[in-house]
Amino acid sequence: MSYAPVGDATVVERADGRVRLRAGDATVEVTALAPDLFRVGYFRAGRPVDYTSEALADADWRPAGELRESDGLELATGEASARIGLSPLRIGFADAEGRPFAVDQAELGMGADGAAVRLHKARGDGERWFGCGERTAGLEKTGSEQIFWNIDPPMGHSAAQLNIYTSIPFTLSLQDGRARGLFVDNSHRQTWDLAKADPGLATYEAAGGDLVYYVFAGPTPRRVIERYTELTGRMALPPLWALGNQQSRWSYMSAEEVRGIARGFRERDIPCDVLYLDIDHMDGFRVFTWDRERFPDPAGLIAELREQGFRVVVITDPGVKIDEAYRLYAEGRERGLFCLTHDGEEFHNVVWPGLCAFPDFTDPAAREWWGDHHAGHVEDGVAGVWCDMNEPALFVPLQSTMPEDVVRPGGGRAREHAEVHNTYGSLMARAARDGLARLAPDRRPLVITRAGYAGLQRHALQWTGDNSSWWEHLWMAMPQLQNMGLSGVAFCGVDVGGFFGDANAELLARFTEFGVLQPYCRNHSAKGTVAQEPWAFGEPWERICREMIGRRMRLLPYLYGLFEEAARTGAPSSTCIRTGHSGIAAFARA
Ligand code: NOJ
Repeated sequence: MSYAPVGDATVVERADGRVRLRAGDATVEVTALAPDLFRVGYFRAGRPVDYTSEALADADWRPAGELRESDGLELATGEASARIGLSPLRIGFADAEGRPFAVDQAELGMGADGAAVRLHKARGDGERWFGCGERTAGLEKTGSEQIFWNIDPPMGHSAAQLNIYTSIPFTLSLQDGRARGLFVDNSHRQTWDLAKADPGLATYEAAGGDLVYYVFAGPTPRRVIERYTELTGRMALPPLWALGNQQSRWSYMSAEEVRGIARGFRERDIPCDVLYLDIDHMDGFRVFTWDRERFPDPAGLIAELREQGFRVVVITDPGVKIDEAYRLYAEGRERGLFCLTHDGEEFHNVVWPGLCAFPDFTDPAAREWWGDHHAGHVEDGVAGVWCDMNEPALFVPLQSTMPEDVVRPGGGRAREHAEVHNTYGSLMARAARDGLARLAPDRRPLVITRAGYAGLQRHALQWTGDNSSWWEHLWMAMPQLQNMGLSGVAFCGVDVGGFFGDANAELLARFTEFGVLQPYCRNHSAKGTVAQEPWAFGEPWERICREMIGRRMRLLPYLYGLFEEAARTGAPSSTCIRTGHSGIAAFARA
């Protein structure tokens, strides 16, 4: 296949703040959703104009703008305008002073290449890119390739890994001190080139579907993020305890071991508010169950820990063990709530429990069913849910993800997995959050997710998965969280101490010094690695961890203020994000 840009266009419909065009057999629409927010939709032959997306919050947009026609069209809002050349169709934007941004590259514009859709924007003079959600490497993304396709990356991934667990195809750019934003809303695989192949060009490609993108006029980072999170939603204010210090391990293997860890914190006077139960609390890794030998009385254990001031969060995985005697599997199969192969069979692959089926969370009935299955956990006193492996991650072949041709029945709206892959994690988190909210309406739900798509912040906080106990990953944590904060995910954190590999005394202390200033502060490590609880390496390291965690506790009123602001405006919520080395953080306060 070869790339074909759209050609000449004619106006077919004008409405307040919106113009619809026809270019060949495609429909193109440009809408001013707000004075500083424009939407462009490019729908090829036979495809309906449809902006429905898991990324979007329920905002009530009232398109408004004046359409002027002279040499081409101009849709002006007073703060910015979309400038539309008709022959050929090329779209660019300008602020109220006429400064151009996000201007289509003259020859390439937007168009199609086989099933793929592509957008080419000329780079503004000195334009630099940031954001792009959860990424590896440094803060600035100028000169890079970005891939948006959720995977469980290889163990010990480095800064060279282009895509990891979540996909947020949104970027904030800076030029001459002015910030703009661009969000390509498409959950197929996306590949971006931000002035890498050609220093004068940014290319945004999605492997299929429609080209729908949003342009934010800023002009401050704060304004861009505020508008972006109005579009894709904001986190709800979490419970205060979710800001406290948290301790996890894969896995605390028994009720006795958990009690010992709880004692360890209290006897040493190290603050801790939340303890985590990883996969070994389950009966044969069957989600929503308990291993009754190791955890004979979950409700009793949780109540006892609660008395000592701890909340308990448990892990859930989307892989449902194929076992006719297991209620979750039998119900899901009976009700047709799982993903299918092209031949209409249940799609199976291997995860922790062995052979599994996978809920199709695009189906509202599957989400409701999954959400309702949190009832046992709620009754037992579980305070929050940790959604893991939801790229989804599969073991055959090792560390693969769901094949693109799997069918997602969608409760009557069947689609190929390729179209919705990047939303799997968000939709699982949404099912969990909605379920918890229904089951315990008087409590603020806490959901943690590994995978997701733009807008995931409405459902869950995000931790960055399996980092390693390396200095490199401590360094990478800062720009990684800053870019997440610049992409709408205000509540985020990395595993303190590092997950894979063995931590050591100084690394743990330095990780904790940094970690207590993350929005989400949890120490977690992998099976088979040395212990890394704050006291694991003795003095003086234990004292350093105690002091740093104590400092976070003293800062809680201030941090909660930042969280309140994040819930209201989408602003990045952590001290480390705000006072980071980047300089952009200071600018974001403007
Ligand atoms: C992968 C997760 O990223 C990790 O945090 C967890 O401990 C393991 N799965 C086991 O559940």
